[in-house]
Amino acid sequence: MGILPPTLHHVGLVIRDLDAISAGYAELLGLDTWNVTDLGELTTGARVRGAHTQVTGRLGVGVAPWGDSFWLIEPGKGRSTYKDFQATNGHGIHHLGFAVEAAELQPTVDAFDRLGASVAQSYEVTGVGSVTEIDTRALLGGYYIQLVTPSGPDAFVVPEGRAVDLSRSYARPDGLGPLPVPRGIQHFGVVVRDMVERVDAHGNVFGISDWVVQNWRTEPGSLESPTFEGRPVDHEYFAAASPLDGPLGFEVVQPTLGPSDYKENFLNLVGQGIHHMNLVGLDDHAHWLRLRDWLQSAGVSVCMSGDLMGGAAEFYYIDTRKRLGGVVVECFGMDPNADLTQMKQRGPYYRISKEPAPA
Ligand SMILES: [Fe+2]
Repeated sequence: MGILPPTLHHVGLVIRDLDAISAGYAELLGLDTWNVTDLGELTTGARVRGAHTQVTGRLGVGVAPWGDSFWLIEPGKGRSTYKDFQATNGHGIHHLGFAVEAAELQPTVDAFDRLGASVAQSYEVTGVGSVTEIDTRALLGGYYIQLVTPSGPDAFVVPEGRAVDLSRSYARPDGLGPLPVPRGIQHFGVVVRDMVERVDAHGNVFGISDWVVQNWRTEPGSLESPTFEGRPVDHEYFAAASPLDGPLGFEVVQPTLGPSDYKENFLNLVGQGIHHMNLVGLDDHAHWLRLRDWLQSAGVSVCMSGDLMGGAAEFYYIDTRKRLGGVVVECFGMDPNADLTQMKQRGPYYRISKEPAPA
């Protein structure tokens, strides 16, 4: 059992320019319609780390075609955890948001307290409910958990602001785009310094009891033909994956040897955090090549890639940080014609499980 409800309410990002980044979500992901509100008008009774404050800035809320909600927060003046995050990270995924009923709010806060994570910020959202943010950056690795609590029986819905339709703000090549997202966000890739500690913490918070740990490295049967910034690379990392059938997926990554996007373009710059969303499914390689050309023209390049299972599967991290607000998108595809019985794929390094050992 975790201490949060199993399903995500929204993904919360701190960004620099709401107009530019919402346009990126529209062009790349087909998220065309946004509800834009003024945080200063929307919020009252804000406290950040015990001190009274006024949360200001703009909030853009959009629902992706596959159903996940994104909250884009452009911080204004004055202190908030959003402004703090902007100071330390620039931009990126600030929090994962979960809806918690009023009666469950204090027990949830207490449960986080017992894990060493306390409330960093809270405020009321006029007519809707309250927001409580837990500073889970040390516990989980660089991101907060936000609890949204409805004041009435209705679900927490951000009040109607200015409706923005961006469907005419871009022109994609014929027959291409938005990026194909067959099953929603498959996992959040959290880049950390200590994979084992962060896996245990994700287990406690999200109730995930079984992790498969791979030691990916440049060699046959593991990572094949890996690239970093367009060049072949010799590197290694540990990646612990939560079960694929869970409502919320995580991959906890600890880079070790050699250069990688995880380390060079993330951990060394902004520290631990949610580096990527595994989102895009690739059905065939030829289609991917056309997508890649379109992405290049939209200012998005491949920052890291590799083949798995002797080339039966391939993955590409595309550098969407400037278009989607500090987060990378992972694209993954399997060759439908590959004979998986012939694959020489290295097995897991080990499993981290809370299930009782077999007798
Ligand atoms: Fe991933």
